[in-house]
Amino acid sequence: MEDFEIKTALASSNIALIKYWGRRDSKLNLPFNSSLSLTLDGSISTRTSVLFSRKITNNAIYIDGKKFALSGRNEKISRIFKVVTAMKKLGNVNREVKVLIVSKNSFPMGAGIASSASGGAALVYAVNDALGLDLSMRELSIYAREISGSACRSIPGGIVRWRRGKEKDGSDSYAEKMFDSSYWEELRDLVVIVSNEKKRISSSEGHDITSSTSELFSVRPALAEKNIRIATDLIRKKNFERLGEIIMRDSNNMHAAMMDSWPPIIYLNDVSRAVIQAVEKLNGMEGRIIVAYTFDAGPNPHLITLRGYEPKVEEALKNVKGIKRVIKSSVGDGAKPVSESLIDHASLAPC
Ligand code: DP6
Repeated sequence: MEDFEIKTALASSNIALIKYWGRRDSKLNLPFNSSLSLTLDGSISTRTSVLFSRKITNNAIYIDGKKFALSGRNEKISRIFKVVTAMKKLGNVNREVKVLIVSKNSFPMGAGIASSASGGAALVYAVNDALGLDLSMRELSIYAREISGSACRSIPGGIVRWRRGKEKDGSDSYAEKMFDSSYWEELRDLVVIVSNEKKRISSSEGHDITSSTSELFSVRPALAEKNIRIATDLIRKKNFERLGEIIMRDSNNMHAAMMDSWPPIIYLNDVSRAVIQAVEKLNGMEGRIIVAYTFDAGPNPHLITLRGYEPKVEEALKNVKGIKRVIKSSVGDGAKPVSESLIDHASLAPC
């Protein structure tokens, strides 16, 4: 088959409650431990259109209007083309057929929000559709993982577990839905933007620096697996108070191992710490945990709470200086096809 249609997919970002940090295989993004996440709703998402055609002279990718060249210098871009090439091979697509990828994030570039999870998932979903591969969720998740580890968790919706897996080829390291997006509708993630700066150490580098230098890291894999079992049970029982404690402790544990790395990796800044204090103060005043913070490889806190507590959390944030904006999100669905294309078929260029 040589004539392909433009296909577009939408995927949301996800926030890990029990984190992925450290890879036993950095080429395939195979983690040392499983992780557990909430797939967010469309407020933090990526839309990606792909077109395979012989009329395209060079493979090209545009992200938020910026063209990226296929060079070994940008690790994520080379991973994307590697995965697209593998998927083309699977579909027996001629090498003469090139690809145009156009991707748009729902949030401004440089907003301090990572787009690799939603971007990787949307891309793999759209390529699968465009090439008519009909892959399973598991297979899609594995391809997304090879672009960016956390991207595999944005293929399913709801509350998702990424199984660590044991196989060397990564065939059993994929994400699966544990609870539907409607299971605990009251869950919220308030993403607090405190910095727009690009991080000095990418997560890709950070994973390997921590696992190879931090002594504290050695406790993480078993601890994370245990926390996933406990957290899953608490989600089943909708016990927010105890879940909140595990979320905060797992994030603190990961950041402690990051700081224990050599050279040390410090992602939090003064405003991040002020938000932690505001959370502690609010929970203290309430006499129980109504909000939990968690941080990825950056300074922007994600505040996990329940719908009914949202006004109190927002009020508490008013007292913290240095917050740029707050993006509110709830639990959302997995990657899906959408009809509006970002590619102008007539000119074979971004719309
Ligand atoms: C700190 O998925 O960005 O956000 O696999 O190198 O693309 P790569 O890393 P990435 O790692 C992010 C890890 C984290 C925690 C988490 O999301 O589990």
